[in-house]
Amino acid sequence: MQKTLIALSLIAATATAAFAADDPIAVRKALMQSNGAAAGLAAGMMKKEIDYSPAAGKAAIAALHATAESFGEFFPEGSDMGADTKASAAIWENPEGWQAELDQFKAAAAAATEASGRAGPADLAAFQGAVGPILGTCKSCHEKFQTR
Ligand code: HEC
Repeated sequence: MQKTLIALSLIAATATAAFAADDPIAVRKALMQSNGAAAGLAAGMMKKEIDYSPAAGKAAIAALHATAESFGEFFPEGSDMGADTKASAAIWENPEGWQAELDQFKAAAAAATEASGRAGPADLAAFQGAVGPILGTCKSCHEKFQTR
């Protein structure tokens, strides 16, 4: 009985892993949702709805940086199909333009990570200066490469 349960849960775990690896649309959407959450934290602190702390500032920047570094991996040929994606066909039709947007996102996130140092940006003004350029890349890329 015990053994059957273990075997079944192993099968379930393997099936989930295979599903995630085979579904780049689900991965890139989840990455963008984490982007949305980090941008929400950043905006909340900038609007003073959430108290600023260097640790929280650093966490928001780290999450944005992680997405910037990985997002581009999840756009294999043909994954513009399906009801589930808002990725525009322009990503595959204009690979240089797409790469340029990805590079801007990565460069802004890398610069912000550098600026945030070990402890995170010291105050709200420093945080704003670091994170602002990353947030500027959201709209620019969505306008060109996300369908509405
Ligand atoms: C390099 C281009 C690019 C940049 C930069 C970018 N996005 Fe996106 N984003 C996309 C694309 C493409 C999609 C659509 C993905 C899909 O549906 O397959 C998307 C989708 C989203 C979604 C919807 C996710 C879902 O569940 O459908 C959110 C939220 C989002 N982006 C937030 C952000 C925020 C916040 C930023 C800036 C910090 C940002 N994005 C920067 C390209 C980008």
